[in-house]
Amino acid sequence: MRFTVCLVIAGLSLCFWPAPGRAAEGVVSRERLLLDWGWKFHLGNEWGTGEDLAKAGSSVGPASRDFNDAVWRTVDLPHDWAIELPFDRNADTSHGFKPVGPGFATNSVGWYRRTFTLPQQDAGKRLWLEFDGAFRDSRVYVNGYFVGHHESGYSSFRYDITDVANCGGRNTVAARVDATQFEGWFYEGAGIYRHVWLTKTGRLAVAPEGLFVYSKFKSPVPAGPAEIRVETRLDNSLEALAECTVRCQVIDAAGKTVAEGNGSARLGAFSQRTVRQSIQLDSPALWSPDSPTLYKLLTAVESGGAVVDRVETEFGVRTVGFDAEKGFLLNGKPYVLKGTCNHQDHAGVGAALPDRLQYFRIARLKEMGDNAYRTSHNPPTPELLQACDRLGMLVMDENRLLGSDALNLDRLERLVRRDRNHPSVAVWSIANEEGEQTTPAGGRVAQTMQGLIHRLDPTRQVTMAANVGNTFAGLNRIIDVRGWNYHIGREMDNYHAAHPVQPNVGSEQASTVCTRGIYANDRQAGYVSAYDDNAPPWAHTTETWWKFFAARPWLSGGFAWTGFDYRGEPTPYGWPCINSHFGILDTCGFPKDNFYYYLAWWGNRPMAHLLPHWTWPGKEGQQIDVRCFSNCQEVELFLNGQSLGKQSMPENSHLAWKVNYAPGTLSVKGCNAGQVVAEDKVETTGPAAAIKLTPDRPAIKADGQDVSIITVAVTDDHGRVVPVAGNLAEFELSGLGRILGVGNGDPSCHEPDVFIGTPGARSVPLDSWRVKEVPDTKDRPEVAKEFSVRNWRRVDVRADFGPLTPGQCAVFRKQFTVQPSDLSATNILLSFGMIDDEGWVYVNGQFVGESHDYSSSPAFQVGKFLESGDNTIAVVVKNNEGEGGLNKGVALVIQEKPVLANWKRSVFNGLAQVIVQSAKQAGELKLTARAEGLAPATLTLPAEACAPPPAVP
Ligand code: GAL
Repeated sequence: MRFTVCLVIAGLSLCFWPAPGRAAEGVVSRERLLLDWGWKFHLGNEWGTGEDLAKAGSSVGPASRDFNDAVWRTVDLPHDWAIELPFDRNADTSHGFKPVGPGFATNSVGWYRRTFTLPQQDAGKRLWLEFDGAFRDSRVYVNGYFVGHHESGYSSFRYDITDVANCGGRNTVAARVDATQFEGWFYEGAGIYRHVWLTKTGRLAVAPEGLFVYSKFKSPVPAGPAEIRVETRLDNSLEALAECTVRCQVIDAAGKTVAEGNGSARLGAFSQRTVRQSIQLDSPALWSPDSPTLYKLLTAVESGGAVVDRVETEFGVRTVGFDAEKGFLLNGKPYVLKGTCNHQDHAGVGAALPDRLQYFRIARLKEMGDNAYRTSHNPPTPELLQACDRLGMLVMDENRLLGSDALNLDRLERLVRRDRNHPSVAVWSIANEEGEQTTPAGGRVAQTMQGLIHRLDPTRQVTMAANVGNTFAGLNRIIDVRGWNYHIGREMDNYHAAHPVQPNVGSEQASTVCTRGIYANDRQAGYVSAYDDNAPPWAHTTETWWKFFAARPWLSGGFAWTGFDYRGEPTPYGWPCINSHFGILDTCGFPKDNFYYYLAWWGNRPMAHLLPHWTWPGKEGQQIDVRCFSNCQEVELFLNGQSLGKQSMPENSHLAWKVNYAPGTLSVKGCNAGQVVAEDKVETTGPAAAIKLTPDRPAIKADGQDVSIITVAVTDDHGRVVPVAGNLAEFELSGLGRILGVGNGDPSCHEPDVFIGTPGARSVPLDSWRVKEVPDTKDRPEVAKEFSVRNWRRVDVRADFGPLTPGQCAVFRKQFTVQPSDLSATNILLSFGMIDDEGWVYVNGQFVGESHDYSSSPAFQVGKFLESGDNTIAVVVKNNEGEGGLNKGVALVIQEKPVLANWKRSVFNGLAQVIVQSAKQAGELKLTARAEGLAPATLTLPAEACAPPPAVP
């Protein structure tokens, strides 16, 4: 052990800690490295938990340090293995019919392994392994040491791996992820579906999530200077007293330092201390969804004349609150929440969203005037909140489960500490529709949770998404803000009258069901009409809920269930539907017609939208239900240029006509004060003729993370999207990048979202061995190529243990034939389930390798030792303790060149989506789409040079 010495002389502290741990004078040692790339993955539960409860550092199977994972698939994070599995009618309906979870043991446990080296200079640093989230029940091991168990699939967790890391050498992280149990009633994914990070700090540093910054104003409506309050929790893991100064700088969006402050602290050995500072910021630019101005807080910790830590925190200056009469207040003024609830999955990628997709989704919601997002029903990934901060979206940040037990309070505390600096977060939600919400115990549990939040965050109120009506009992009695899931009508008014001092919010409303581009309910196909006519019994149409809320400012506005369709909960039908119909946008983010209702009444410019489409061959002369969403005072409808009448638009409503179908153009003009201010048209298209590819942005960044979200449209001869097209398109990508996933928004489509290709590996089991006990392991003649096994015993090497007793040695031999064609394979591995305890391996009399870890499932490259025809393997085994031998099977793994996946997807009502990810090299990506009978399309997408994020090599 090396010692740290700290001298404190008249207020001046000189701290010396082991040289490698200390950054050079003035240099900061904090690093945050992404650990997403190059994991090995295996789906299956062959090894139990991997934990060895008898001895530390000796985890077994894939949890052990030297386990051979060479034949496992290589994956990058975020990764969701559930999306890769086929749909199965016997699987859980609410989870979207993916065969994971209860009843699907073989698909419910996955192992991930990642090996990397750490530089010698990291010795003495503090090392943290951080998971933004893994679904679920994960056990993590570092270098064979168990480092932690985390159950919830939604909260972030981190492990201090300082002691078990190997600085100056190889390190292995192994994670066992077990998705056997559900946490929700919606698609939840499976695997490490969020980022993993390796954070390195000095021994005196800002504690994890140790920074809290918020603003205060003298008056309820912000005016004049803001008081920026900063709380910095410092962590001293030195064996000595440390003194330090905390310097804070507030940097504005232009990069200018606009405020500064200093604080100091004295920390005993192995202790934590919070430094509180208050900094005045003159004339701050306030954050709001319409103007999401951000500041940066730079915090530098100085000790012994050096900067020992530096942390950058993005924050916004704004105030939020709920008022019983005025509703939600942003910066002191009433601000109607025009929100959506959302789950976290997207077409093509399941729950494993690249960061860019978070931005894409938030931007889509903003396009319709949405200003608020509820992270139903769980803590989101941090990158979602970052997207909301930067793009301007208020957030109801939701905890997963009601509970005041230690585990649930710990999860809640992690959530609040992690997310409280985000200006987007406007309110905390402790739970959703809990069965205990009206009981006295439910109320007490909620009060404890709310108390904890108030202690951690004095700036925000707390709600719970309650699905009871005019009921004050239990939780509603104590909660800061009464949340309303459904129950529109007199119940709300009566409740408000009876409890006039309690603020309210529409935590979950609508649950309107509709399918993009479909205009009649079809139970068999699993489609619901896109007219705003359908909602389950507890729910309401879009127009019903919004009219009600718009008329009652005290309700604060609300959150529609849901912004996007999500996998699972295929209401109102079951199979063949595999995803919900609640979305205002489908699973790809293609808008349904209701999107335009919201745009009309939530947006801020004149608009008009006509529905349905106007391609109805065979319906000539039949009446069609035509509707228009618009916010114009008057709207006039035309069929092929002929006016079909003008109507006044009632507020928060729509207009409807019955029109006899004739092919051509149906159009509307929207007028304000007699002036045409908005127009829309739908045209009868010709037959499908071509494919069109349109990326969401003209270029992407070559950082290995960025994605292009590409719309695939089937068009007619005039380039118009054919609204009834269902052609199957095939995709081929060339250049530096890969296709991540495909989708089309069809709630009943069972085509895969992900194509993995064949890894090209074949496994040939090598059974029927012979064994002979020998006195020792040295220079055994029995390993020679030609050695008679006459009188040797037969042995089953697939057994879990045996046949050797403690201290016994033996030679195992096997003869087998190799085909000449096999010898041309890229790799040939000889793979052992277990050599217990030690083994020396020979092929055709030549030494191939050795193993000294019984749990490591060793594999050896043997291509160069093999011959066409007869071959011999001999393994000398020494069993040290217990019953040992050659166990758990032996196989020859023949790896050919992998066969690339053949990506394809049908368009649904004319549209599909391909998500393409860049590599870390700049260049061009070329996506070609082909479909039988259609002109193909090729999209050339530049991937522009840019520094990839700092990552573990
Ligand atoms: C709510 C519930 C949501 C979803 C929705 C469907 O009661 O909170 O998770 O199930 O119903 O309408």
